[in-house]
Amino acid sequence: MSNEGLVIVPIQQKVSFRRRRTVVFLGFANSRSQFLSAVILSSKEIRESILSSINEIIIRRPDDWHLHVRDGAFLNAVVPYTAKVFGRAIIMPNLTPPVITAAGASAYRDRILSSLVDGEDFEPLMTAYLTDVTDPAEIARGHENFVFTAAKLYPAGATTNSDNGVTDIANISRVLETMEKIGMPLLIHGEVTDPDIDIFDREKVFIDRTLEPTLQRFPDLKIVFEHITTKEAVDFVKEAGSQIAATITPHHLVINRNALFTGGIRPHMYCLPIAKREKHRIALRAAATSGDASFFLGTDSAPHPVSDKESSCGCAGIFNAPSALEIYAQVFDEEGSLDLLECFASLNGPAFYGLPVNDGSITLQRGDRPRDPCLSVGHEEIMPFEMEKPVGWKIVA
Ligand code: DOR
Ligand code: ZN
Repeated sequence: MSNEGLVIVPIQQKVSFRRRRTVVFLGFANSRSQFLSAVILSSKEIRESILSSINEIIIRRPDDWHLHVRDGAFLNAVVPYTAKVFGRAIIMPNLTPPVITAAGASAYRDRILSSLVDGEDFEPLMTAYLTDVTDPAEIARGHENFVFTAAKLYPAGATTNSDNGVTDIANISRVLETMEKIGMPLLIHGEVTDPDIDIFDREKVFIDRTLEPTLQRFPDLKIVFEHITTKEAVDFVKEAGSQIAATITPHHLVINRNALFTGGIRPHMYCLPIAKREKHRIALRAAATSGDASFFLGTDSAPHPVSDKESSCGCAGIFNAPSALEIYAQVFDEEGSLDLLECFASLNGPAFYGLPVNDGSITLQRGDRPRDPCLSVGHEEIMPFEMEKPVGWKIVA
């Protein structure tokens, strides 16, 4: 076999694949460097046929770069699902009232840590909720004291608990200057709130009206464009260079907007940004599974009581924490890119945030995953995200 057909992937990534019990093709020991390296045949057909016959994959422990865990009894009920699988999670601050001070974030972090039942090694990474009157000094102090990892920009009225958000990005110019200076990432819910703009166009319009000018005005500000849902967002992030990255949710990889109306109105498929046309879902799948370092895992798992979802004014949010990683694995498998799951789930995020990758690993096996039951929390229930067919991967260790 000539070397031309081979791509060498350093296995600091610790990715490994097993076909039944035998480790196939992908690893060899480099005795000099003590590194293992994975060898992947670059011929598309051979690569795909080998990857599709893989029944087990071990990846470095992943992180969730976008998560809602709420508070109180809900927090205690949902955190264990994430902590079992993910090493860290970026915790969204849209509580009522929102998390705006370092002291508030620190207390919230303590409540999250107290909810860990089995002594899981899980680190919540806290964020500040930006408002029109956020004090840049509070943000800088919180960052310096290792409380705030990042700050979240919710355009006021864009989504759940965003009423205290930012009414005009010009109002937080001084905050953004400070964040740019101290290297603190800005996480953006990228939708305009203008009611005259069609709900399916709000992300696209945000790119032109707000995102692009912000990148130009603050060229050293690190930005995460959260839960992208459109081809326009994919293209923008790909072309904008290393200043910006994007998270992609599992649900936006598996549903399009038809899922909201299959046989009737489906409140449990409603989230914001809303799922778009099929061509957008295809673009998101291509981006996530491409290995491009600008895209990484962020579930946007967002639990709500069933009674608030199944209502005449149902709220936005999909609770996917129980099956998120398995859904991503299925998508990578379907796209013939299982070997790139680890980049998306465990490597690209830490690289963008400037954090080390996790220790430990997660093992997934091919096989129908049992469906998740509804969670009972006091008098309320939370409905986990469910696809039509069972998910074809499960976590085994
Ligand atoms: O669907 C969503 N739910 N999108 C968001 O941006 C917020 C989230 C929530 O907090 O419920
Ligand atoms: Zn969110």
